[in-house]
Amino acid sequence: DAPVLVFQGNDIVWACASCHGDHGAGAGLTPALAGLSEAYIAKQLHDFATGSRPNESMRYVASAMSAEEIGQVSAYYAALPHVAGPPVDLGGDAARGEALSRTGDWKKDIPACVTCHGQQGEGVGGHFPALAGQQPEYIFHQLVSWKGGHRHNSPQSLMDDIASRMSDQDMRDVAQYFGSL
Ligand code: HEM
Ligand code: HEM
Repeated sequence: DAPVLVFQGNDIVWACASCHGDHGAGAGLTPALAGLSEAYIAKQLHDFATGSRPNESMRYVASAMSAEEIGQVSAYYAALPHVAGPPVDLGGDAARGEALSRTGDWKKDIPACVTCHGQQGEGVGGHFPALAGQQPEYIFHQLVSWKGGHRHNSPQSLMDDIASRMSDQDMRDVAQYFGSL
């Protein structure tokens, strides 16, 4: 079994695994961390600490961590293999989501997700995160957050712009698709 990472920062003892699961697989609105890149995880922890990505639990956790600790947990989770969770029905059409992710929707100015997130949603380089196998409810919720202006940490507002042009059904469909990989 993978060790349960316990992060000891300042006077607080945090087990990331208490929310993100023993194998970093996440659940529901809590994302999988296993398989994300080290650079992306570290960036998100900085963004939670500064508030450009608002979330109360993660602000508390991230602002208690030193730069060295952020480096250590990021490397730890990036090295864990992703474990697929049970299927979740979001009311999305995964086949339509796959088509949207591959060709986009030019009438609505939505680009193909795969150009930045990889042909199989496996992520590209350090800064374009993997979506394959991510929790479907979490993916949907992030798109809604960008569209609503709550999450605003995407470089060059890329994801804010894309999400602002997506309908509720578009978001469900892509979340259903990527979450099923
Ligand atoms: C999101 C890391 C502890 C709840 C995230 C993300 C990272 C992360 C990197 C963003 C992932 C992504 O963008 O795909 C960690 C680490 C922890 C930790 C390294 C331990 C040091 C916790 C704890 C909780 C929690 C203890 C629950 C109290 C959440 C939730 C989100 C999240 C709900 C999604 C936030 C949103 O909707 O934007 N975490 N986490 N995490 N984490 Fe943690
Ligand atoms: C992040 C979905 C297209 C660049 C994300 C995340 C989701 C997502 C759910 C958050 C992942 C997480 O929190 O773990 C999508 C969908 C797309 C799409 C469904 C197609 C409709 C694109 C395109 C680009 C892009 C075309 C590049 C031009 C990024 C970047 C991030 C990101 C840079 C990381 C933002 C950050 O650092 O916080 N995307 N994406 N995405 N996406 Fe996309």
